[in-house]
Amino acid sequence: MMRCLYLCLIPLLLVASNSCRNNCEVIEISRPRVEYRSNPQGIDQTNPRFSWELNSTDRNKAQSAYQIVVSKDSLDFESDDALVWNSEKVKSNRTNGVLYQGDMLQSGKPYFWKVCAWDEEGKRSQWSKISTWSMGMLKTSNWVANWIGFDYHKDGGDSTRVLTVPQFRTTFSSDKVLQRAVLYISAQGLFEAQINGQPVTEDRFTPGWSDYNKRIYYDTYDVSNLLIKGENCLGVEVANGWYAGRIADIGNRFYGDYPSFKAQLILNYDDGSADTIFTDDHWQARLGPRLSSDIIHGEKFHYGIDDANWSLATYSEEDWTGRAIVMQDPISELAAYPTNHVRVQDTIKPTALYYNSDDLYIVDFGQNFAGVTRIETRVNGGDTVVVNYAEMLNSDSTLYRNNLRGARCSDTIIADESGLISWSPKFTYRGFRYVSIQSSGALNEPSVTGLVMFSNNDRVGEFACSSPLINTINENIIRSINSNMFDIPTDCPQRDERLGWAADADVILTTSAFNSDVLTFYDKWLQSLVHAQSERGYLPSTAPVVRPIISSGWGDAITSVPLKLFHLYGDTNILRGYYPEMKAWVDFLALRTFNWFNTQSTYGDWQHYNDPTSRRTNSIAYFKHSVNNFCEAAYHLGEHNDYRKYKELGEHINEVFNTYQINEAGHTIDSSQTSCLYALAYSLVDSQTQRIVQQQLIDLIEKRDKHLSTGILGTALILDELVKMDSIELAYQLIQNRELPSWGYQIDNGATTIWEKWDGYSRETGMNPDPNNSLNHAALGSVGQWFYTHIAGIQATEPGFKQIRIKPLIGGGLTWASAQYRSIAGKIESHWKIHGDTFLLDVTIPVNTVANVYLPTEKAKSIMVDGEFIQDNDNLILDVKGYIGIPIGSDTYRFRCLRTK
Ligand code: BGC
Repeated sequence: MMRCLYLCLIPLLLVASNSCRNNCEVIEISRPRVEYRSNPQGIDQTNPRFSWELNSTDRNKAQSAYQIVVSKDSLDFESDDALVWNSEKVKSNRTNGVLYQGDMLQSGKPYFWKVCAWDEEGKRSQWSKISTWSMGMLKTSNWVANWIGFDYHKDGGDSTRVLTVPQFRTTFSSDKVLQRAVLYISAQGLFEAQINGQPVTEDRFTPGWSDYNKRIYYDTYDVSNLLIKGENCLGVEVANGWYAGRIADIGNRFYGDYPSFKAQLILNYDDGSADTIFTDDHWQARLGPRLSSDIIHGEKFHYGIDDANWSLATYSEEDWTGRAIVMQDPISELAAYPTNHVRVQDTIKPTALYYNSDDLYIVDFGQNFAGVTRIETRVNGGDTVVVNYAEMLNSDSTLYRNNLRGARCSDTIIADESGLISWSPKFTYRGFRYVSIQSSGALNEPSVTGLVMFSNNDRVGEFACSSPLINTINENIIRSINSNMFDIPTDCPQRDERLGWAADADVILTTSAFNSDVLTFYDKWLQSLVHAQSERGYLPSTAPVVRPIISSGWGDAITSVPLKLFHLYGDTNILRGYYPEMKAWVDFLALRTFNWFNTQSTYGDWQHYNDPTSRRTNSIAYFKHSVNNFCEAAYHLGEHNDYRKYKELGEHINEVFNTYQINEAGHTIDSSQTSCLYALAYSLVDSQTQRIVQQQLIDLIEKRDKHLSTGILGTALILDELVKMDSIELAYQLIQNRELPSWGYQIDNGATTIWEKWDGYSRETGMNPDPNNSLNHAALGSVGQWFYTHIAGIQATEPGFKQIRIKPLIGGGLTWASAQYRSIAGKIESHWKIHGDTFLLDVTIPVNTVANVYLPTEKAKSIMVDGEFIQDNDNLILDVKGYIGIPIGSDTYRFRCLRTK
């Protein structure tokens, strides 16, 4: 039960008199999106979801109704011919997850749309700016293109040839006036497509990683601007990528032996006619200058074979003796890529570059990140340059590469006669801070640039506070999240792993969401988790699946991630979409856990610090956690029978947990911090035992001199549980500790990202020799969400931030904190500072939302809003924990009060 006492049962919004202070301006619409992307091309949702944000300079604004109009092919929203949907005025405050309900959408067609909204007084906004989207290939029969590949076996080819990246090209003429040219392209492998020498996109690692046995993505690009009147050329390189290259430590050819692709370029002319260029066995093919290319290992590039003009129509075709071969169609479904691809997001220059005794240059970027380098230098003609990457240096300043395990993380460049090098690899990446560059001969000092790469999701959050340590932890978290937001949420970007480990993805989700817009990114990943699920409901621990290993806390992501996405983005379609798979997992666990000794915990609380939690505790706790999640989903979806049935199952799990895992004194028998956290966070014990376990947890933390000892599962829970028991100072202490295990220890030992292990490295003894020792692992960074939700105090009390709580937790010696978060409902801001006895708080709440703002005072009379004392105290909410809450509507406010906390 909420421990808040409402002085007034129906709190009226504060300062309503301030409404319309700007002559009642109408609300404005911004960020119109379809399927949560701006102007997406080639989607395949036949009833796509619309969303928008609302802005106003007035106070307490809300949406009472909206209207959407959609036209086909043109900007004409008037004629019946063009209009495919007019929602008419719909009374609703929804601003996202609004489903299209018009005429059947057609393959390949562009659509245009706009939306307007009515405010709470019935005043209508202007129409939004006109936005667009286009449909992809909705039917298999829309594809006329063939899957084509390179004939590696022609001329008795040797086995090394399969590593070489083939190039394909075709020329075509386009003489009429072009209206629109769209390229649809997919690959089993990774493609880069060029038209007339220009890449069709900045996207990298296209078309992304999926379970290729079940689904292959295609991309859609409007390439109208790249075409010229007359002869044109479409060229495509296709690397092995995840499809045929190395996956983790498993080896090559996980999905197939050779890469292949298919492409279809549709040219629509002004006169209404169209041409289609498509892949077939007339395409020219050859092995290109990329002698080998592998995501995990790296690339080898031969300037002597390269010709920058290979995708120009004017290119001499003498070298192109080969022809593509048509491959069999895969049985997997083709689907439109649903999120944002990886791109180069930033370029950074080295902080140090020096020449060492082994005749090699060592480059230090001063920070760990995922990506590659661009190298510009001059060597002797024909010389070979080797570029190696590492996260750490040995004490003799050579690269420490043991923690890369089987990943070579190395590129090789063979110069042509000119000796000029200006190069970066295309189909590989790695996590690194240091680079060594060595030539077979003399090497001029190279100019080196770091190309920082991650999935191109919108940045939505900013956080800072008065503690330099917490700010550095936050920066490290952001670097690790970005480094591991690589088409899928990965565990790490450097060693031969880089997998979508489900627990890692789950624990870091909310922190990621406060930093970037991850809805479509996680939705795509969930699809690969669903693809990994067996008919019996079983789930492995990674998605896409690479090994059939089950573990408590990992497979449970299927119940946890959709629910978290629902809370963050407020779209019930997400919950509805994954509901059957959530249920199948819970049912599977119910069968498997039948005798309660059949445990499925393989990895435990991964990376705990000498504080293990038993397999049985993990298994029972995560079973309960998934049942809780499923019940909550059932509740939100109105599935009452399921809700009741699985609630009962949850009670049964509690009986078992209390019988076997709680001793007579009411303590968890594991006596680990994480076992206590499970009991509390997953509601495994009654309220009396809860108090005992809370004390047990405090004692366990005290026993370690006020340090946590949790791994990736427990760390995600610990601060919130401490807040629930009002141990605020202890929570702040855990964040600000500097000895092992703590984030501060990592930073004091040079961390610029979050490490996999609490003790991954020490300045005294060097790297921890454990082969699982990534220095760029996001999972232990799950504390980052707490910076937003508790230090800045921005919390959703209704899914999708429709109702907000702003409640900064004062403590830890902090004197100010500042955060802004562009939620699905719009921008939320919380900036507070302490001036002696005075507490100041600036808050922004988006249109169409309401909030309760909590101030750390017990003196209601001291509260000022925008420079005036509050007139009407009846609306205040007294919180027993020494805060006073004030209900507000949208707008920006300045609060001031006498601090009693
Ligand atoms: C990964 C982890 C992952 C784990 C399973 C490791 O190798 O890097 O982050 O969750 O395996 O225990």
